Amino acid sequence: MPALALQGFGLVGTTLLRRLRAPVPAALLSQVTTTTTPHPEWQPGQNQPHPYGDSERVALDPAALASCYGLVISSGVPRPIAFVSSLDSEGRRNLAPFSYFNFVAHDPPLVAIGICRKRGEKKDSLANIEARGEFVVSIMSDWFIESANHCCGDFSSDVDEMALSGLTAARAKIVEPPLVAESAINMECKLVHKYEVKNAAGTDTTTVVIGQVVMFHVLEAVLDTVTHGPTKPTVHFDKLRPIARLGGNTYGIVNTVFDLPRPDRKV
Ligand SMILES: Cc1cc2nc3c(=O)[nH]c(=O)nc-3n(C[C@H](O)[C@H](O)[C@H](O)COP(=O)(O)O)c2cc1C
Repeated sequence: MPALALQGFGLVGTTLLRRLRAPVPAALLSQVTTTTTPHPEWQPGQNQPHPYGDSERVALDPAALASCYGLVISSGVPRPIAFVSSLDSEGRRNLAPFSYFNFVAHDPPLVAIGICRKRGEKKDSLANIEARGEFVVSIMSDWFIESANHCCGDFSSDVDEMALSGLTAARAKIVEPPLVAESAINMECKLVHKYEVKNAAGTDTTTVVIGQVVMFHVLEAVLDTVTHGPTKPTVHFDKLRPIARLGGNTYGIVNTVFDLPRPDRKV
């Protein structure tokens, strides 16, 4: 029975992907459906096999592949996206999305971002973060996804992607790079650590920057200071309407959720 239910779940997923090629009605973007868990009847110890029958498992040695890029970005899904503002040494603005991104700690709050080399050169965001030691991460929401995506274009370093895409700068409190006013959550960050990634040939391919959030800016409309009180704020995800990155050029909208408490906790 669990296998059957999982198969059904897979089919629904495929159908949904095809349907998403059609225009998304604006009202649907903000609608969140809360469902039961996929298998509310599941009991501890009960097996939950994958839904693909006799499918063979293929071992893929990263060292034997021409590129791991497609595999990596389509396997580690969905990913949140950091929309990173930075300034160059002359004060020119830069804005670009990065989905090798997540929070990696909360005490203090730390974000990690993997910034790859472009044609062997450092991307503008990395050069700026290294030059000034600060940046702003804004969270991407569905209402400005087209403008945000436009900022990933291969523009020269003197192009101000914020102006180009029609996004609005707002002043930060501590750091110099601007907040993105369209975003519901902006985080002022100071660079605290860098990790240089080298490939088998010894070539630098990526720099992982770790930033400490020194100030959060959260739109009141998405902020929840009631559930856990004003000193333990959280964010209403259904109001934030975060965009997720999937493989290739595919983005996702989180509009179906369920709650599943930890086994030893009620809430
Ligand atoms: C949704 C999305 C996620 C991206 N994630 C990354 C990433 O994690 N690392 C990276 O190096 N480039 C990433 N890119 C590509 C950069 O945004 C792109 O190279 C951009 O031009 C960099 O701008 P910059 O040179 O102004 O820093 C991503 C692009 C998109 C659209």
